[in-house]
Amino acid sequence: MGFWHNRWATQQTGWHKADFNELLLKYWPSLNTPNGCEVLVPLCGKSRDMLWLANQGHSVIGHEMVEQAITTFFSENKLNYSIEEKTTHKIYTSKPFTIYHGNVFDIESRALKVDAWYDRAAMIAIEPSNRGTYVEQIRRHTKPGAVGLLITFAYPQEEMEGPPFSLNDDQVTELFSNGFKVECLENIQLDDDKDRGLSFVTSSVFKLIRI
Ligand SMILES: C[S@@+](CC[C@H](N)C(=O)[O-])C[C@H]1O[C@@H](n2cnc3c(N)ncnc32)[C@H](O)[C@@H]1O
Repeated sequence: MGFWHNRWATQQTGWHKADFNELLLKYWPSLNTPNGCEVLVPLCGKSRDMLWLANQGHSVIGHEMVEQAITTFFSENKLNYSIEEKTTHKIYTSKPFTIYHGNVFDIESRALKVDAWYDRAAMIAIEPSNRGTYVEQIRRHTKPGAVGLLITFAYPQEEMEGPPFSLNDDQVTELFSNGFKVECLENIQLDDDKDRGLSFVTSSVFKLIRI
């Protein structure tokens, strides 16, 4: 069993929050996303932030490779869903939610071109060597002008094995340097995360615009 399947199977899902992410609530309105537009949530888990985005009038499109996360999202929120089988993935639907079950790197959907995306605990969850491919997937699934909110987590990588993997501001600027406009909205010192024995932990919030 792979790392993430094991984490879900053993209920080690400490990243999952019962409350909506306060940085999402603080910054999403300033992105000025088109009314009712589709929002992509890569590596969505069973995030309740998807409910908040839906409450803003958005259609929410999730990508998640652990089926248990998807079915739990629907059952915990008392949503009936339908399943459609595709060659590379399954699609779980309960309007306004559509969740693609599969590896985010394998999901081929030419039809998918969203206006906005939300990345909390997604880019920091993937192996650093896959980050370039991940950015390419974001580009493939977004329209020119699409806007993204990215929340990162940075610490001295040698002090802990990921995930989460450290992703610092310079790395974000570099990874999105080709074809995206990058703006750092806030940088936060996270003292409570020092419990993990890390000498510093910061989190940054970025607004990204796909050119
Ligand atoms: C750290 S959790 C964050 C979940 C969610 N973004 C949140 O804030 O609660 C990362 C999630 O990504 C999923 N995941 C990891 N690698 C993936 C991949 N390559 N493709 C799709 N999902 C993946 C895991 O199963 C897990 O649910």
